[in-house]
Amino acid sequence: MDKLNIVGGTPLNGTIYISGAKNAVLPIMCAALLTDKEVVLRNVPKLLDVRSLISLLEHLGATCEFRAGLLRIKTTAIKATTAPYELVRKMRASVLVMGPLVARAGVAHVSMPGGCAIGTRPIDIHLDGLKAMGAEVTLDEGYVTVKAPSGLSGCEYTLPFPSVGGTENLLMAAVFAKGQVVLKNVAHEPEIVNLAEMLNAMGAKIVGAGTDTITIRGVSNLGGCTHSILPDRIETGTYAVAALMTNGKLTLRNTSLSLIQGLTQPLKKAGAIMEEHNGGFSIWRDGPIQPVDVVTEPYPGLATDLQAQFMALMTLAAGTSIIRESIYENRYMHVPELVRMGANIKVQGETAVVRGVPALKGAPVMATDLRASVSLVLAGLAAEGTTTVNRVYHLDRGYEHIEDKLNRCGAHVSRSNGSD
Ligand code: EPU
Repeated sequence: MDKLNIVGGTPLNGTIYISGAKNAVLPIMCAALLTDKEVVLRNVPKLLDVRSLISLLEHLGATCEFRAGLLRIKTTAIKATTAPYELVRKMRASVLVMGPLVARAGVAHVSMPGGCAIGTRPIDIHLDGLKAMGAEVTLDEGYVTVKAPSGLSGCEYTLPFPSVGGTENLLMAAVFAKGQVVLKNVAHEPEIVNLAEMLNAMGAKIVGAGTDTITIRGVSNLGGCTHSILPDRIETGTYAVAALMTNGKLTLRNTSLSLIQGLTQPLKKAGAIMEEHNGGFSIWRDGPIQPVDVVTEPYPGLATDLQAQFMALMTLAAGTSIIRESIYENRYMHVPELVRMGANIKVQGETAVVRGVPALKGAPVMATDLRASVSLVLAGLAAEGTTTVNRVYHLDRGYEHIEDKLNRCGAHVSRSNGSD
């Protein structure tokens, strides 16, 4: 398995171009199953998760062509309605084919995703919403079968929690519903807005994306479209933290401060100076890193996907900070690894107390999820000595060309083969 070797201690200076968002492109690719016309997606990042989802879409009947950020998907006919265990196990976002399959083919068999490294992550909200639209849901041998042979119907459904994936699956399922589907307490994330814009460009009738309530008026069919994937706000936040941790100055392009609004206040309190300009912003600091208490929350709050990175920053703060993870019950896998690098962190339940230390020390480390892994890369960039981050495939799932982007700004990161 590949590993990254990082020789730390060099300030990062330069420009990083932010890629299209992983968490926007995955649902949008699934939405391409809703039409027999061609869907053309721009600004598509070259990620392992995109490749995995292409395999699943091809298995279901799509033809995909992916070159230089442009992904063409055409699903003349749905040829299979099963999302198999081997694919769902690798990538939970595979469950997002459920809504489009039920909407277009009247049936979906999807392997139940089960727990993962960051929590139990059930899909009860997805299934309850589909039931509210009249689908029949059964569970057998680890697969959930959702049937609506005569189509889904209008309804009003209030999500018990603003689940991102739940909102996306229900939005896609509802596009052909008979009548009107009103979804309340939905997720507000920019990725939801990007998906709704794409569906509307295909001819759907969706209003309210980005607010608490989304209303979908069913249409009889959808056409093709050309759609741009929005910039990755988590990648943006990750490199913003890298600038502060290494005491460098980065200019992040193809992004904006408004995309990371839940992070900008904590960054400012930590001592960041941010200057917005056309097509991006620059970030640096001119004093020590200050401790900041944060809580992860649904958008527009601080994203859980930035918690590990922010914690890495706080390990070097001039004081103590308290971090609370409110979205997942088990998203602190980076803590023991950061501690191996010299950080002082104590976790109790959903709260982590981080006492800043003057410096981190390089070490061999490993993490079992994407954001935990990238927090170790950040720590390695700031640490004295060499850090080896094992199991790089986690990073390849969500960070396009990570070592190239960092090295162009002065980092010393190399990839090598080796057992973990
Ligand atoms: N939840 C339920 N029932 C459900 C759905 C969710 O209890 O039916 C719970 C989950 O267990 C979790 C919380 O609600 O505790 C949030 O889950 P949500 O459904 O909002 O998350 P998701 O759609 O599974 C997406 C991102 C995650 C990101 C979360 C939260 C994609 C492909 N994934 O997951 O991204 O952490 O929203 O913002 O969009 C990542 O990129 O590293 C990542 C994990």
